[in-house]
Amino acid sequence: MVETDGPDVCACERCPALVESRSRIVNGVGPDDAALLFVGEAPGASEDEQGEPFVGRSGSVLDDALRDAGLARADVRITNCVRCRPPENRDPRVGELDNCAAFLDREIAHVDPDLIVTLGKVPGERLLDRSVAVTEESGSVVDARLGGESRRVLVCLHPAATLYDRSQREGFETAIETAADLVGAGGGDQSRLGDY
Ligand code: URA
Repeated sequence: MVETDGPDVCACERCPALVESRSRIVNGVGPDDAALLFVGEAPGASEDEQGEPFVGRSGSVLDDALRDAGLARADVRITNCVRCRPPENRDPRVGELDNCAAFLDREIAHVDPDLIVTLGKVPGERLLDRSVAVTEESGSVVDARLGGESRRVLVCLHPAATLYDRSQREGFETAIETAADLVGAGGGDQSRLGDY
C-alpha cells in the first residue's frame, strides 16, 4: 500500500466490497489549514464520478448554506469518514469505518481545524463515540477526544436530510451559520470558540 504523509490516500484495498464498488478514492478537499472541517459519511455516485466530496445534490445544499453564512466552499475543508463509495449507496459498515479511521484521524491532525462539523448521524456517532440524535442535537457544540487531542465538534444534520424533509432546511442552515460564527469566518469579527 502506498500512502502519502499528508491527508490524501493514494491506494487502499482494505475493504474488498468498496474496492469493487468505487471508481476512485475520494479524498478531502479544501485548504489543509482550514479553520472549519466538514466530515460527511461516504461518497455517493457524483462524488465517485468526480473525485470530490459533496458535489451532488447534498453538495449543492451545503454550498448554498455556506454561501448564506458568508463562506465559500474554497474556504473550508470537506471530507468523509469513508473515502470509497459503498455499493448502492448503503451506509458504510463498521469494519469499513474502522478501516478508514486512521485516514480521517491523520487528516484531522494535519488540518488541525478550530471546529469540526459532522454532517449526519454516521460521522456524528463516529467522532463522538456515542449514539447521536442528530435532529435534536443539530447545532450543538461538544468536546471530543480525537487522536489524543481535544477537539470542538459541532453536530449537524446531513444536507440530504433537507432534501427528504424541507422543514429541516432551517435547522441545517442555522447550524452552518453557527459554525461560521464560531470560527469568526462568516462576517463576525472574532472567533467565539472560547465561549464554549
Ligand atoms: N454524502 C456524504 O456523506 N458525503 C459525500 O461526499 C456526499 C454525500
